[in-house]
Amino acid sequence: MPSPEPVTNPNIATGSGHIPVLLHEVIRLTAPQPGEHVVDCTLGAGGYAEAFLQATAPAGQLLGIDLDAALAPRVRERLAPFGERFRLVHGSFAALASIAKGFPMPSIIVADLGLSSVALDNPERGFSFQQDGSLDMRMDQSKGETVVDLIRESSVAQLEHILKIYGEEPHSHTIAHAIVAAAKRQPITRTIQLVEVIDAAYRAILHAPAGRKLWLGRGLHPATRTFQALRIAVNKELASLEVMLPQAFELLGAGGRLAIVSFHSLEDRMVKQFMKQLCARCVCPRPTASQLEAGVAPEQLQCTCSRIPRATSITHKAVQASPEEISINPRSRSAKLRVIRKT
Ligand SMILES: C[S@@+](CC[C@H](N)C(=O)[O-])C[C@H]1O[C@@H](n2cnc3c(N)ncnc32)[C@H](O)[C@@H]1O
Repeated sequence: MPSPEPVTNPNIATGSGHIPVLLHEVIRLTAPQPGEHVVDCTLGAGGYAEAFLQATAPAGQLLGIDLDAALAPRVRERLAPFGERFRLVHGSFAALASIAKGFPMPSIIVADLGLSSVALDNPERGFSFQQDGSLDMRMDQSKGETVVDLIRESSVAQLEHILKIYGEEPHSHTIAHAIVAAAKRQPITRTIQLVEVIDAAYRAILHAPAGRKLWLGRGLHPATRTFQALRIAVNKELASLEVMLPQAFELLGAGGRLAIVSFHSLEDRMVKQFMKQLCARCVCPRPTASQLEAGVAPEQLQCTCSRIPRATSITHKAVQASPEEISINPRSRSAKLRVIRKT
């Protein structure tokens, strides 16, 4: 397959407020061709979509999906030059199969998980611990519970579980306890209130005096992990990814490429396992250590499943951002890209 034309300024989206992560690598590894159709499951500010629409001109169509309806006016304006080739649907990629009904069979499906920096930068959305705003954090503001609801309705154990699993917060119990206790005294409805509670809990843990700025190394703010965990929980991010992956793979035709950019270790593990199992040549049970010690019969070591892999891996290891990209866009530091091709 010939490589498409390189995208100008691959990792910088000018004027959109969002710098797409690993864009150049996504385009290079999915290798879009003129006339191919693409589904972008996480349209965001349209950085990937614009590059795909350029590479698939003149006839390739792109279906862009996003949970966040607030991004729609800007992205429509940005992609207006592509006319009827671009279609936008407000919804969750968890419903990918039904959203994509009526759209031609895609050759490429891409998802760049997480949050758009356009949403992060709007204090009233509640994603940022740097600015005061309503503690909402829903990507889809038309439905579902907010972080205010989640905190109000959670026990210490439930909150601790969320902080530990989704935030990998080492002090999940202390912070969950502090949040629940503070919420009993007064409802926590603003980001700044939550930051103050987390800050006080961390000061007690670290015996740090009040008033001194508290950073936890590598630029980590005490509230980083808690905010990430609560965002993942209210938006059901892992559950949505889990149901989207098989739908995406089934939608693709032979030779179709599936590319996923993730930012969280649990997401990356899910993507890696999903892709590995599709690319596996053999799924015969492996002999156990004790069977090997006892000397298994040679025929038991032979493959009997004769499995034909359903996909081949394009990225044998996850692709990560270069030091140059990280220096321009620190958010790319934790990004991992994995791509497979359907056989
Ligand atoms: C990192 S941004 C994507 C940026 C995009 N690649 C670009 O170039 O501008 C992730 C986007 O995915 C959206 N999103 C997250 N979960 C989603 C879901 N389950 N369904 C649809 N969109 C989702 C967010 O609202 C956000 O706009």
